[in-house]
Amino acid sequence: MRVILQSPASVVRSTLQDGVQLVSIHNPPVNALGAAVRQGLMAAIAQAEADAHVKAVLIVGDGRAFIAGADIREFGKPPVAPALPEVCQRIESCSKPVVAAIHGAALGGGLEVALSAHYRLALPSAQLGLPEVLLGLLPGSGGTQRAPRLMGVKAATELMLSGKHLNAQAALAAGLVDVVVEGDDPVAAGLAYVRELLARQAPVRPTSAQAGRLADKAAAQAELDVLRADTAKAARGLFSPLKIIDCVQAALDLPFDQGMQFERAQFLACLESPQRAGLIHAFFAEREVAKVPEAKAAVPRPITSIAVIGGGTMGAGITVSALDAGLPVTMIERDAESIARGRAHVEKVYDALVAKGRMAPEAKAATMARYTGSTRYEDIGSADLVIEAVFEDIEVKKAVFRELDRGCKPGAVLATNTSYLDIDAIAAATARPQDVIGLHFFSPANIMKLLEIVVPARVSADVVATAFELAKRLKKVPVRAGVCDGFIGNRILAVYKQAADYLMEDGASPYEIDAAVRGFGYPMGPFQVTDLAGGDIGWATRKRRAATRDPKARYVEIADRICERGWFGQKTGRGFYLYPEGARVGQPDPEVQAIVDAERARKGVVPRPFSADEIMRRYMAAMVNEGAKVVAEGIALRPLDVDVTFLSGYGFPRFRGGPMKWADMQGLDKVLADIREFAQDDPLFWKPAALLEQLVAEGRNFDSLNQPA
Ligand code: 3HC
Ligand code: NAI
Repeated sequence: MRVILQSPASVVRSTLQDGVQLVSIHNPPVNALGAAVRQGLMAAIAQAEADAHVKAVLIVGDGRAFIAGADIREFGKPPVAPALPEVCQRIESCSKPVVAAIHGAALGGGLEVALSAHYRLALPSAQLGLPEVLLGLLPGSGGTQRAPRLMGVKAATELMLSGKHLNAQAALAAGLVDVVVEGDDPVAAGLAYVRELLARQAPVRPTSAQAGRLADKAAAQAELDVLRADTAKAARGLFSPLKIIDCVQAALDLPFDQGMQFERAQFLACLESPQRAGLIHAFFAEREVAKVPEAKAAVPRPITSIAVIGGGTMGAGITVSALDAGLPVTMIERDAESIARGRAHVEKVYDALVAKGRMAPEAKAATMARYTGSTRYEDIGSADLVIEAVFEDIEVKKAVFRELDRGCKPGAVLATNTSYLDIDAIAAATARPQDVIGLHFFSPANIMKLLEIVVPARVSADVVATAFELAKRLKKVPVRAGVCDGFIGNRILAVYKQAADYLMEDGASPYEIDAAVRGFGYPMGPFQVTDLAGGDIGWATRKRRAATRDPKARYVEIADRICERGWFGQKTGRGFYLYPEGARVGQPDPEVQAIVDAERARKGVVPRPFSADEIMRRYMAAMVNEGAKVVAEGIALRPLDVDVTFLSGYGFPRFRGGPMKWADMQGLDKVLADIREFAQDDPLFWKPAALLEQLVAEGRNFDSLNQPA
């Protein structure tokens, strides 16, 4: 073996092994295709062309991946040559056979590099995909032109529209790779394959030169027409999916070079779009949230068994989530009847999967074997972590925590799933407040990704670190929150929900507000959400808070009037909407509109019309203003923690990046000007956050607070 080339930063290294130039990429953690890698690949191919000893080229990735794609951190910055399409072109036009041996991720530009090679081998760990759509992009280095030639229009377009990964066998079946080889060493497997190819004098085989699975043009066009129609319906305001379809159309209609030019133009248009900025912010923010001081400073406690107190909606969902992660769970309820109901709640989730054919009955039995129901706290004496999910009542919770303090082993982590209550007070009910933390799951807890990790004053750092470790095991997105009424998410929700109520009393119907919010990209509007969750929940909270409400603050009674009639939403067949015969989608209700009219008349409000744009300006201004207060108070560590909370727990449209990113993209001065304008009518509600005023005065944005100190 002879080292023949090292790129300047040594991220691409070439060695010569028996006539094979082994090109190895060393750019941890995932071999992203930054400028140095692109330059190194160009130089490596030039070297292969120039060196008469080289008979073939083998490209591999060092470490855990082949190549995970373009370096996403470079997007939005000035481009550095060579561009990736040039690199791919150089690889494909090499006069000697080029082989890619893939292990781990070969995604986006990484797969495009592999598709430019003449032959592809995959190891069992390989994950192949073109997930650019998830970042508001499309494959911009020939993926839209080469993948359809290899896989056919339908499979290739579905791969690009879904962003899903294929494993090695699926990639083989789809035509993306030529061979799958057992083992975990891409160099050994790759070299053996190259030798075999050389022995049979396999020729260079550029994908661009073959029509491949596009040869039957009429069939391909028919497939694409169906996909275009489906995508137009499903894209919901997203920019890049239809552009992917256009690029595949170009692959069908145009010679390869022109198809590449078309793809490039579409890629650049996507790169410029605010959706790309929003989605890439979301990608990094979801990874940054786990980087909290306690997780860096402390070692998590080991968790091998979990107990859940309460088998209601949340207790059952949390139990399923933990069982799905492979943990044994003991559930505690008040009495035999309640624990039977708790178990039934858990089984119902698995029964539904079995009925849909998504779980084998044996797998259900194996999972349920890790579940134990009990009514005795003695049975959780050895649990490493306990999650309490009983009624939302501070006295009930304190009583449970006193029991836990008595019965749990020293060092057990004691968590509460409370939505609003003071966790410092709950911790103070025990003699071990250093072990008490908030784990705020969202309903349904086995599905929703968000987990607010609520950090009370006296908890120790290793308990916080344990909670973040648990989130990883449960495949949740953890966000660190401080103690206050509603933590990050529900506290901000309460404020923008109030803005929606004011809009309703001032002239917009609940249906107009919901439609405006959906138009912004949410799957549902706030009144639809109330109907889904049950209007009685918010009603109980409003009653609880009535005594402490500022008498000068504006209060809208419309929702109370609706609840007083027993209209709690979907479960009662009507709420803000009508749900005849159990319909899931509600219809506007003239009687609700009459209640709204009557309340306006009672208060002497003369209704005025609001456009969708005006509705959203108020809705978002309320959200951003409270978000700024939450950051300033340290309830959220950074603006990005607010963004991730709303993206993962509240249906905020991902392509807008989260409320704080949205505000940055609007311009904070504009958002502040809106708040000041609205304050003219209601200065108490629309009090600008000091942080927002400060950032505007300094010409800074929220993102400037996201940077690590
Ligand atoms: N560019 C830059 N950094 C990247 C990256 C990329 N393409 N992919 C991952 N990273 C970084 C992450 O930010 C993270 O950094 P951190 O440790 O500082 O937080 C680190 O690599 C590890 O990533 P994960 O924590 O996500 O590790 P996992 O093992 O859970 O997942 C992965 C690995 C499946 C590769 C996942 O990171 C992933 O899906 N990455 C994005 C892949 C992608 O979208 N590629 C397409 C890019 S666009 C493109 O290629 C355009 C082209 O067509 C022109
Ligand atoms: P639920 O009413 O469905 O379930 C509560 C369960 O706790 C009941 O089964 C009850 O029998 C049991 N229980 C009561 N006292 C108990 C005790 N002393 N020992 C053992 N079990 C006891 O309530 P839900 O909706 O599951 O809420 C539970 C907690 O989760 C509350 O704190 C709530 O605020 C919180 N939460 C609820 C969300 C939701 O959407 N429902 C979302 C996030 C948090």
